[in-house]
Amino acid sequence: MSSTKNDKKGTQSRKSQGRKSAEKKRIAVIPGDGIGKEVIAQAVKVIQAASANVELTEFDWGADRYLRDGTTVPADGFAMLARDFDAILVGAFGDPRVKTNIHAKEILLGMRFKMDLYANVRPVRLLDAALCPLKGIEPKDVDFVVLRENTEGVYTDAGGVFKQGTPDEIATQEDINTRKGVERIIRYAFQYCEEHSKLDGSPRKTVLMCDKSNAMTHAGGLWQRTFKEVSVGYPRITAQHMYVDALCMQMVRDPRQFDVIATNNMFGDIITDLAAGLQGGLGMAASGNIHPGRTSMFEPVHGSAPPIAGKNVANPFGAILTVAMMLRHLEFEKEADKIEAAVLAAVREKKTTQDIGGTLGTKEAGEWVASRVR
Ligand code: NAD
Ligand code: IPM
Ligand code: MN
Repeated sequence: MSSTKNDKKGTQSRKSQGRKSAEKKRIAVIPGDGIGKEVIAQAVKVIQAASANVELTEFDWGADRYLRDGTTVPADGFAMLARDFDAILVGAFGDPRVKTNIHAKEILLGMRFKMDLYANVRPVRLLDAALCPLKGIEPKDVDFVVLRENTEGVYTDAGGVFKQGTPDEIATQEDINTRKGVERIIRYAFQYCEEHSKLDGSPRKTVLMCDKSNAMTHAGGLWQRTFKEVSVGYPRITAQHMYVDALCMQMVRDPRQFDVIATNNMFGDIITDLAAGLQGGLGMAASGNIHPGRTSMFEPVHGSAPPIAGKNVANPFGAILTVAMMLRHLEFEKEADKIEAAVLAAVREKKTTQDIGGTLGTKEAGEWVASRVR
């Protein structure tokens, strides 16, 4: 594996601006299903326009392949990704023809769990006031990041059903929280806060841990104790806490108060769709699934959106901003800056898809950004 991989900084590090672009990197591209295919086609176009020193290899993992030959992840697929690639770019998984969603579980959650990509980094940034449904909110007011634990919680599939189909049916879904898992995401959040500044250049100052420890006392207790212990090592950073229900209310009442948020897998999933709403909707939100020093995976926050798939209406900007995040992670700072600037210009000039007020199709919006980058 490359020794120049950006181990500690995760993504969006402002400190490393101006550094020279990195050596050639290998990127696996897995478009997946539905609008995943459409937005990734545009994201790839933008990578090529940026002339980053990368080699792209596409994989057909997804519903079509599963329905054709029963394969979700080919044998040794995750070992191959870790061995042969520096990063993975993913679209989305989910297809109405696959009722069990088994392929999404095995591919997407498989990558997160089996490659141990424990930090799901979801930046929340408003590019233009017109995109935010809240009144009086400007871009500088929405600049926070959610660090979602990505390898445990209720996503481990621990549990089961008993007496299915009878009036006595029982279903359990266990919430698994390990000391190691909780500690490493909390530590990642404090490190992230130390190493990243806000977009206006001011330092990040606060890590807020979000849980439901008033009701879920066992898991919450572990998160509370761990958060307190880890925070002692970061005296410059203010450690705050909020229950997840209160946080949802605060996020729509005043997003200015948030800086770095650390939370568990499910709360992180839910609050980042809410946070995407502040950015203009799911079409605008980017994310990275990171294990420092290992091959990490980057994907837009949205899903495969079956009702709008194949219609050339999906917003490709979440996927394109995801590419910028991935390139920054791979130390292609200049290329990442260029892509982010082009998306910002597209938003300001309304060269966008309809969901955020423009009139362009997916391809045309992607092409506009690509030509701006070129
Ligand atoms: P979704 O994100 O696909 O769609 C939610 C809403 O947002 C829909 O109204 C959709 O039209 C809109 N939307 C999403 N992305 C958009 C874009 N780029 N441009 C414009 N509008 C966009 O979530 P869902 O409807 O709950 O799920 C659909 C399928 O996707 C399900 O199978 C779900 O499991 C899957 N899913 C996959 C991922 C992933 O692979 N990372 C993430 C979320 C959902
Ligand atoms: C996401 C998605 C996934 C999740 C689903 C598809 C399992 O909603 O990436 O946000 O819950 O993590
Ligand atoms: Mn989600």
